[in-house]
Amino acid sequence: MTDVSRAAALLRAGELVAFPTETVYGLGADASNPLAIGKIFAAKGRPADHPLIVHLPDASHLERWAVDIPEAAGKLAAAFWPGPLTLILKRHPSVLDAVTGGQESVGLRVPNHPLALQLLREFDGGVAAPSANRFGRVSPTTAAHVSEELGDSIAMILDGGPCAVGIESTILDLSGGEPRILRLGMLDAAAIGAVLGHIPKFGGEQNAPRVSGSLEAHYAPRTPLQVVAMADLAGTAREAAGAGRRVAVLAAQPLAFSHDNILYCPASADPAQFAHDLYARLRELDAMDCDLILVAAPPAGESWRAVADRLRRAAAGSK
Ligand code: TXA
Ligand code: MG
Repeated sequence: MTDVSRAAALLRAGELVAFPTETVYGLGADASNPLAIGKIFAAKGRPADHPLIVHLPDASHLERWAVDIPEAAGKLAAAFWPGPLTLILKRHPSVLDAVTGGQESVGLRVPNHPLALQLLREFDGGVAAPSANRFGRVSPTTAAHVSEELGDSIAMILDGGPCAVGIESTILDLSGGEPRILRLGMLDAAAIGAVLGHIPKFGGEQNAPRVSGSLEAHYAPRTPLQVVAMADLAGTAREAAGAGRRVAVLAAQPLAFSHDNILYCPASADPAQFAHDLYARLRELDAMDCDLILVAAPPAGESWRAVADRLRRAAAGSK
């Protein structure tokens, strides 16, 4: 039996299987099995009203999970699936409340990773999967990250190597009204706009829908983290180090001076590479037991927007 067949059998038996996607590792369970879904919330320590994304083998499965599917959904699926785009659509009546968090919509995505696609095809159903981290923590981008954090509560981890994209999918709400981006990933608004015919706006209505990725205090390392403008980085680091604090600095360029209390960690100047490395770096920096992580603020501009969003949340979560 191959690993993928074993993983599919475990899903059918109601067990949790962590699997790689191109964005981050997912903590998967049979989306039509309430007991299996319950295990996801227990393992993550996630509030029960936070909806889960259902992962599908291909777009032909959409009708089993959603109703009143707008034409735009088909076009976007054709353009970007498999890929880092989650579509929020009106739920099919058969979708479990535990999956939708009791909302009238459901999040659906076809991930672009060979192992994930093999697993989904062999399982031949929807696999509900949040990022495979404890609630509020940094998403995992390697199998080792998953096993460190959730190893004890998972039946199996499929190892597909480091995730290519590195941050979570872009979430687009097509469940009614104007399309809206609820969470930005590396698939940007311009690319979606090119297919939709207009650039979608950001954000949902006040208080709804519930997108945990939209909470401040999310994606946080344990060490306090600050995002600092390049021009202020050296000064801020020197001041903290001078006060006896151990400081880790994540920036594309090293500081012009060295200090016993300052540890420099190189970051990429390319947004896609920066995103690819981000969560692994945050975990490494966290493990160094510093008192403070300083991250050089990314440049302004659309290509850095998703990364800037994750850094802002990491900073908000570590206050
Ligand atoms: O890249 C990703 O999207 C990864 C991989 C594993 O696919 N998954 C992921 O799942 O990031 P999670 O649960 O960590 O984040 C999914 C976000 C949550 O913030 C959730 O609230 C939101 O999607 N979401 C799911 N269904 C929704 C719905 N019906 N309406 C609004 N937001 C929804
Ligand atoms: Mg998550």
